[in-house]
Amino acid sequence: MSEIYVVVSGKGGVGKSSMTALLGRAFAQRGKKALLIDCDIGLRSLDIILDVQDKVLFSWGDIVEELCDPEQAAVQQEGLYLLAAPARLPRDFGPAELRGLAGDCAEKFGCDYVFIDAGAGIADNAMLAMGAADKALIVSTPDNVCVRSVAAAADKLFELGMDPENVRLIINRFDKKSAISGKMLNVDDVIDSTGVQLIGAVPDDEAIELCLHRGMSLPKSSEAFKAAARIAGRIDGEEIKLRIK
Ligand SMILES: Nc1ncnc2c1ncn2[C@@H]1O[C@H](COP(=O)(O)OP(=O)(O)OP(=O)(O)O)[C@@H](O)[C@H]1O
Ligand SMILES: [Mg+2]
Repeated sequence: MSEIYVVVSGKGGVGKSSMTALLGRAFAQRGKKALLIDCDIGLRSLDIILDVQDKVLFSWGDIVEELCDPEQAAVQQEGLYLLAAPARLPRDFGPAELRGLAGDCAEKFGCDYVFIDAGAGIADNAMLAMGAADKALIVSTPDNVCVRSVAAAADKLFELGMDPENVRLIINRFDKKSAISGKMLNVDDVIDSTGVQLIGAVPDDEAIELCLHRGMSLPKSSEAFKAAARIAGRIDGEEIKLRIK
């Protein structure tokens, strides 16, 4: 059975969708299959980030409403599958139903991992996504406002019954020079303030804007891709030392 992760943050615009896309591609590179589920209902973006928007004919809402099969809704790209978010939530649909859908689709497509890209914040869409997952990756940028929101997201996950052992932190847009000069928090500050164990830091990398958002694969030599590949390795059970660049 595949593991279901939610990629969540307290604050919007910190890189959840970018991380979800990078992880999908990093797992493909490892020869593993990931199912990416966009749960930003009404504001989907993963299809654009992966440059498959022209291939999206149906959303996962259409599977739920029996308007199509999972095979018709899922867009395949290299080793990953994407289910686009619907414009509105299907009726009587909650975390248990999303979990069922994720599990069924992952089994059908032979996926090892599911990553649900939660919407911004910790209400509605994010609660749906958090309640459907076994494990969580909380994304934070290294600033005080975001760090505070991470603690709130972690509390929600614990309230929903998630084991703290299954919750990990990704620090995104980390810049060592800014941390050293005090313009940004350093990694220890972020970990101490959030109380969540770190699984990796992804550097601020303009290649993300240039490539990912134009649907091009990030060069494997880019620092952001290398960082995502290390996080994928850790998720996959490999012992990879934390390297903060
Ligand atoms: N490591 C990074 N380096 C440079 N730019 C980044 C990085 N991560 C994300 N970005 C940029 O930050 C912006 C927000 O990213 P993204 O859409 O992934 O955030 P999000 O958390 O999914 O947003 P939302 O809460 O609106 O869903 C995008 O323009 C993206 O290109
Ligand atoms: Mg997003």
